[in-house]
Amino acid sequence: MDGNGRWAEERHRPRLFGHKVGVDSVREIVETASEIGVEILTLYAFSTENWNRPTREVSGLMGLLKSYLRSELRTMMRNNIRLRCLGGQDRLPADVGAVLRQAVADTCSCQGMILNLALNYGGRSELLGAVREMARKCQEGVLDWGAISEASISDHLFTAGQPDPDLLIRTGGEHRLSNFLLWQSSYAELYFTEIRWPDFRKQQFLDAIHTFHLRQRRFGRTGVQVKEA
Ligand code: FPP
Repeated sequence: MDGNGRWAEERHRPRLFGHKVGVDSVREIVETASEIGVEILTLYAFSTENWNRPTREVSGLMGLLKSYLRSELRTMMRNNIRLRCLGGQDRLPADVGAVLRQAVADTCSCQGMILNLALNYGGRSELLGAVREMARKCQEGVLDWGAISEASISDHLFTAGQPDPDLLIRTGGEHRLSNFLLWQSSYAELYFTEIRWPDFRKQQFLDAIHTFHLRQRRFGRTGVQVKEA
């Protein structure tokens, strides 16, 4: 969800104003995704690197997150949306962690779209955690190192049990992954747009999905093989 800061600066407003309007985009995209039948939507809300931002911006973002979770809980439950969190929750402020855990618990039996919030998330640190956990299991004799497979690595990530993403959208004009779902995105279709996140609304989301549908996903095969399959 990139581009909030620049969107605000271009309007001579504080960066936090961009994040605030960005929350309106979050609402609209979550609602649209759930409406059109997206099974899993993951929003990269705060990275492990975002702690390096000015303290005011970090606390402003945490405040927005808390009020979003509080105000949207009912709507999520009404729309049968199950909230999950990707990332280590230990570093989040205690009040945000508590609201988040409550929202995750309250929506745990919802059967509709899964909404993953990536918070204090970093792809490399996620992989490091998985490697450590598997090494520990090997040492304890509950995992055989020779039996470690791609599937067992996936099973040790925050997204365990979920399929890999099909489409990865980055707003705000940057062309990089910024440590997002590094393992899971190996075959995701990448969609980069100049549009800043606060301006990324229903129509822009539908445009991205339309572009996705025009792509041919070959997974290493030839185009002829894909057409014949
Ligand atoms: C990146 O834009 C955006 C973020 C680091 C925060 C995104 C958070 C929200 C939209 C609000 C809270 C989240 C939820 C789910 C309610 P940037 O600040 O890096 O923009 P810039 O590149 O233009 O500076």
